[in-house]
Amino acid sequence: MVKYYVLVILMIKCVSCEQTYDNDEIVYTCRKCGSTLEVDVDVGVSKDVFNGRKLGLWKYREFLPVDYRKSVSLDEGGTPFCKCDKIGKDLGIELYVKVEGSNPTGSFKDRGMSVGVTKAIELGVDTVGCASTGNTSASLAAYAARGGLRSIVLLPAGKVALGKLAQAMFYGGEVLSINGNFDQALESATKLADEKYIYLLNSINPFRLEGQKSIGFEIIDELGWQSPDRIILPVGNAGNISSIWKGIREFYNAGYINEKPIMTGIQATGAKPIVEAFKNKSLKINPVKDPETIATAIRIGNPVSYTKALKAIYDSNGYADSVTDEEILDAQKLLARTEGIGVEPASAASIAGLKKLVEEGVVDKGERVVAVVTGHVLKDPDAAIKASSKPLEVEPDFNKLKAIIEKKIN
Ligand code: F0G
Repeated sequence: MVKYYVLVILMIKCVSCEQTYDNDEIVYTCRKCGSTLEVDVDVGVSKDVFNGRKLGLWKYREFLPVDYRKSVSLDEGGTPFCKCDKIGKDLGIELYVKVEGSNPTGSFKDRGMSVGVTKAIELGVDTVGCASTGNTSASLAAYAARGGLRSIVLLPAGKVALGKLAQAMFYGGEVLSINGNFDQALESATKLADEKYIYLLNSINPFRLEGQKSIGFEIIDELGWQSPDRIILPVGNAGNISSIWKGIREFYNAGYINEKPIMTGIQATGAKPIVEAFKNKSLKINPVKDPETIATAIRIGNPVSYTKALKAIYDSNGYADSVTDEEILDAQKLLARTEGIGVEPASAASIAGLKKLVEEGVVDKGERVVAVVTGHVLKDPDAAIKASSKPLEVEPDFNKLKAIIEKKIN
C-alpha cells in the first residue's frame, strides 16, 4: 500500500518581483513589473505513487496544475531515451539523447499544449492562438482540434518549414501569414490575446510550460531517479530550458534527487541574445533585430522567457554558447548517420553545441550528458533533401544496377 500525501499550492507568481495572481486569472506577464510568470506548484508526494504508471506526461499528474480527469491528451511524452555509445565514445562522455520528435505532432511542444489546452477549457475560452516558427502552431492546431476549440496561428511568411506548415493547416488551424519575422508575429499575437480574441499558448503562457517540465521529470525517472551531470538543448524563445529546469527543481524539492544538472543552452550564431547576455553575466538581453539561421525553429531575436532561461543557467552553474549553421547541419547528419536519429536542424544545435563544448574543455570527459533533440527530421524535409546527395536514376536493368551498386553510391 503506497502511502503519500499531496499538497498542491497553486498560484501564478512573477519570476522577478514575486507578485502573485490567482490560478484562474488570464495573465501572461506581471502587471506590476512586466516580467514573466510561473505557476507555483508545491507537491508532497512519495515517488512510489508513479510506480506502475506508463511513462509520459500524465504519469506525473500530481505535479501538473490542471484536472487530469479532463486532460486533452494525445498520449504525449514517454519519448525514446537513446544511449548513444558511438557519438558518446568519440566525445569521451556518456551520452543519452531524448528524442522529442517522437511526440504525437513531432515535437516537444505537445507536452505543453496538452496542459495548455486543458487549461484553456478549464478557463472556458473557445479560441486559442499563437505565433510560431512552426512547431508550436502544428501542436496547437492538433490539440485544439482534440479539445474542440478554434485555433488561430500567426506564422512569419515564407519562413516556416514545410512539414510544420502542412500540419498547422491540415489539423484545421486558421493560418495567418504575417509579413515579418517571428518576433513581430508574436507581438501581433500578444495584442490579440490582450484584446481577448485568443487565449495565447506561446511559451509566455505559464501553464504551457508546466507540460514541458515533464521532459526533466522523464530524464530523472529514466536514469533511475538520478540527475545527469548536464542537460543540453537548443534555445529559441527560451521556454523549454526554463521549464525543464523547473521540473528538475520540483523533483529536487520533492526529495527525489540529491543533485541537479548543469543546464546548457545552445543558440544559432545568427540569433544568440541569450548567449550574449550569458557572456556579459547579465540578466538582460539585447534583442537581435534580424535573426538569421538555417535552424528556422530557433530564428528568434527577442526571446520572451529570457529571464527564466538565464536564471536556469546561472542557478545551475550552467552555460550558453552558439553554433554556426554549418556546425548544425554537420551535427544533424552525424546524429542521423551514426545513431539513426533524425532531427530537424534546430534540434541538432544541442549535438553541435555539445561537440564544441567538449572540444573547448567546458564539458568534462566522462560526464553523463542528456541532449534533448526537440523536433523530427520530417518537420523540415527541404533541409534534409538539401543536405543529402540526389538519388541516382537507374534503368530497370539488373546489370546496370549491379555496376552501380558495386561502386559506392554516395
Ligand atoms: N527546437 C525546436 C524544434 C523548436 O520548434 C523550438 C521552438 C525550439 C527548439 C526552441 O525552444 O523556444 O522553448 O527555446 N519553437 C517555437 C515554435 C518557437 O514556434 O515552434 P524554446
